[in-house]
Amino acid sequence: MKITSANFVMSNSDVAKCPKDRLPEYAFIGRSNVGKSSLINMLTNRKSLAKTSGRPGKTQLINHFIINKEWFLVDLPGYGYARVSKSAKKTFQKFITAYFSKRTQLVSAFVLVDSRHEPQKIDLEFMQWLGENHIPFSIIFTKADKLTEKKLPAQIEAYKQEMLNHWEEMPNYFVTSSSSGLGKDEVLSYINEINKELNTQS
Ligand code: GTP
Ligand code: MG
Repeated sequence: MKITSANFVMSNSDVAKCPKDRLPEYAFIGRSNVGKSSLINMLTNRKSLAKTSGRPGKTQLINHFIINKEWFLVDLPGYGYARVSKSAKKTFQKFITAYFSKRTQLVSAFVLVDSRHEPQKIDLEFMQWLGENHIPFSIIFTKADKLTEKKLPAQIEAYKQEMLNHWEEMPNYFVTSSSSGLGKDEVLSYINEINKELNTQS
């Protein structure tokens, strides 16, 4: 899919105030600092459409971007970041779960995990929660550029093995790097295929 336009629409903390348009929507979620905002910039070829930072806790609201005037891409705050205050953390968790439970336009979530790390409890629990709530998701492994050619497939394989302890099969997944552009075509084609299917249904 060619991205012809990518524009910021709005930020807010209340799912009820999110755009009313019935456009297909895809949300990026994962731990703080995993690279959600960077991935959005990579996918859309925009350097700073979504705000990124070396320090975790940068994205604090639900951010809607409209792509090709046809679909929404959503940048969400990270979960599991210890340095924001307890009350702020609670608010995040609340509106993240409210977003996923109430946003009927949501077609699929992308759960980002850092390809360098062992499977983390918080990610496994979040995917479990998505499954229990019948919210479709894919996994996106991020920061692949930080691993050697040998280590990367070994990490993905180990992750698969862990997932198979909890799931009947490995969910759909992508291996990406926002610095090298790895995985860009795959993620965009995946979204494009779903959008085409939705178009033929309506
Ligand atoms: P929060 O908004 O705080 O939840 O973080 P986020 O998940 O949006 O992460 P963000 O995109 O802000 O990136 C965090 C840090 O990781 C930044 O310093 C990025 O430059 C770096 N980063 C993100 N993706 C990649 C990648 O693919 N490769 C490398 N080498 N660095 C990356
Ligand atoms: Mg962010």
